[in-house]
Amino acid sequence: MQFQLTEEHEMIRKMVRDFAKNEVEPTAAERDEEERFDRGLFDQMAELGLTGIPWPEEYGGIGADYLSYVIAVEELSRVCASTGVTLSAHTSLAGWPVYKFGNEEQKQKFLRPMAEGTKMGAYGLTEPGSGSDAAKMKTTAVRDGNDYIINGSKIFITNAGDAEIYVVFAVTDRESKHKGISAFIVEKGTPGFSFGKKEKKLGIRSSPTLEIIFEDCRVPAENRLGEEGEGFKIAMQTLDGGRNGIAAQAVGIAQGALDVSVAYAKERQQFGKPIGLQQGIGFKLADMATKVEASRLLTYQAAWRESEGLSYGKESAMSKLFAGDTAMEVTTEAVQVFGGYGYTKDYPVERYMRDAKITQIYEGTQEIQRLVISRMLLAD
Ligand code: CAA
Repeated sequence: MQFQLTEEHEMIRKMVRDFAKNEVEPTAAERDEEERFDRGLFDQMAELGLTGIPWPEEYGGIGADYLSYVIAVEELSRVCASTGVTLSAHTSLAGWPVYKFGNEEQKQKFLRPMAEGTKMGAYGLTEPGSGSDAAKMKTTAVRDGNDYIINGSKIFITNAGDAEIYVVFAVTDRESKHKGISAFIVEKGTPGFSFGKKEKKLGIRSSPTLEIIFEDCRVPAENRLGEEGEGFKIAMQTLDGGRNGIAAQAVGIAQGALDVSVAYAKERQQFGKPIGLQQGIGFKLADMATKVEASRLLTYQAAWRESEGLSYGKESAMSKLFAGDTAMEVTTEAVQVFGGYGYTKDYPVERYMRDAKITQIYEGTQEIQRLVISRMLLAD
């Protein structure tokens, strides 16, 4: 067994770390405060090849593996979780289903510009009345000649408003329940497709989250992804990988909080010595570091399994569950290490703590991860 990253992985980590430090971190607090998404950062990621890490060069990607991709999300999230999820939703939730289920024409038309970063992707599954129970969606798509007419709305859509390409799910046959759901690619600017409320959030405030609305929205049948009725399976398989992207985001957030906590614990003096040398704080840092490392190993393992063509749904659910809880715990402890200063916006730990919370909620709550893991255990 090899625990060493390859030269290529180390190169990608260094490139993303430098980019994150020099370009993303300096404006992270300000973008959070102003709830401002910066498309310029996405464009810079495109120039570096980060918008198409796991896709083959024939589709505009750089042909690296899923481990390279999670390393990139981790490094971005280490300084700015909003930028991390922008890349994660774009790659795992929009790019992946087109790569996996799209035909050649769809890949050239939609995956290529996403991989090259000239277009940004988003994923629309959740509705006001169907969150964890995703199959209970109400949005419909009715076949009309060579088109489908979509009606309904989706909420909490990451990247919405700015993204150009949306992978959305709609009911094509109500009677067949989850087997009557189909997947579609809808482009920004399609008549009948509009944006609703922009959410004001606790964390990841510089990542846009909007409602998307379909009112007699006519989408060509050639934009259907996979066969009619395959949509729920596509949605679930997409989330299998997406969840590991969120695990990577959680690892990055936790590592970022640990980095600043260690630096502060060395510098801050109380009772005549650095607080890190007081056992109460030193042991806290030890526990934080141990959990971050365990989260990272679970996340890298799931990514490695996907790259190797092995099953990874259970492992992704585990990595998201463990890393999400770790991010929440480590960031809360980081605020504690900083004491009163940690509760202010003078230091980044309160932002890390606010950002961490969403990793326990989106792409399936922690309770849903336990459901997925336990069902797989019992089915074995
Ligand atoms: N891969 C392939 N097929 C799968 C699958 C998977 N991972 N999971 C389920 N299926 C299939 C099952 O095999 C079954 O197929 P058959 O009928 O042919 O046997 C079918 O789907 C139905 O499966 P279940 O009976 O398990 O379905 P369920 O209704 O009980 O729901 C669930 C399962 C796991 C709870 C699912 O609804 C779920 O994952 N819910 C959470 C939704 C979620 O994660 N939402 C996140 C939104 S996206 C987001 O958050 C993005 C963002 O902001 C960044």
